Amino acid sequence: MRPARWLARLSLVALGVGLFAALAAPAAAQSINRAVIDDLNEQLLYVALPLTLFVEVTLVYAVYRFRDNDDPKPTVDDPALEITWTAATGVILLFVGVSAFFVLSNPYLTPAAAGAADPGAGNATDEIEVEVLAYQWGWEFRYPGANVTSRSRVVLPVDRDVRFALSSADVIHSFYVPELGIKQDVFPGHETVARTHATETGEYDLYCAELCGAGHARMDGTVDVRNGSAYREWLDDQSSSASASG
Ligand code: CUA
Repeated sequence: MRPARWLARLSLVALGVGLFAALAAPAAAQSINRAVIDDLNEQLLYVALPLTLFVEVTLVYAVYRFRDNDDPKPTVDDPALEITWTAATGVILLFVGVSAFFVLSNPYLTPAAAGAADPGAGNATDEIEVEVLAYQWGWEFRYPGANVTSRSRVVLPVDRDVRFALSSADVIHSFYVPELGIKQDVFPGHETVARTHATETGEYDLYCAELCGAGHARMDGTVDVRNGSAYREWLDDQSSSASASG
């Protein structure tokens, strides 16, 4: 009876690990930002999974092995063992810290790093700038140079660097597009910047991720990534209708 129960438990654990791995395996990323974040998650998962298994198996083994121990002996000093596990923990934390640092210093995730790391990078001429104004409760997008303003929906070309210049008309909001790996707070009286480079056309949900009042939950929008010609067409349409009405 006992071995059967153990087998059942082990298979349950294996099933759980398999399910977790399947859920954690990311679909193809839709932007450079998202790909970098997914890679980090995957790296950390490969470190965390064996560690979790090691700890759990050790725990279960100890509980089972010493279940009828009526005369437990105190643990003796073992400096070598203590140094080993301290050093191993240090190496793991160092790995996590260094991997996370390189992701954070990516110019798409930390736009300030774009200029600092490589002054010629960001090929400014090729980069599209969109001014984003957050307000209670919605989003307004302006395309400088094109005399185009849109609300709730921002249209972007695929395979191009995009720079969002974010500001708020009232309180703190947060510009959050999970599928494109963008999350940046938006402040009144202070411009913040977010960058991305979408690699897949499609519509992505935009949310406000900072509680900003009664309409916070309604403060959403759409990021519409199109191919280059469809993007230019949309921009031309918008600017001609803007000049017709103005
Ligand atoms: Cu804006 Cu929440």
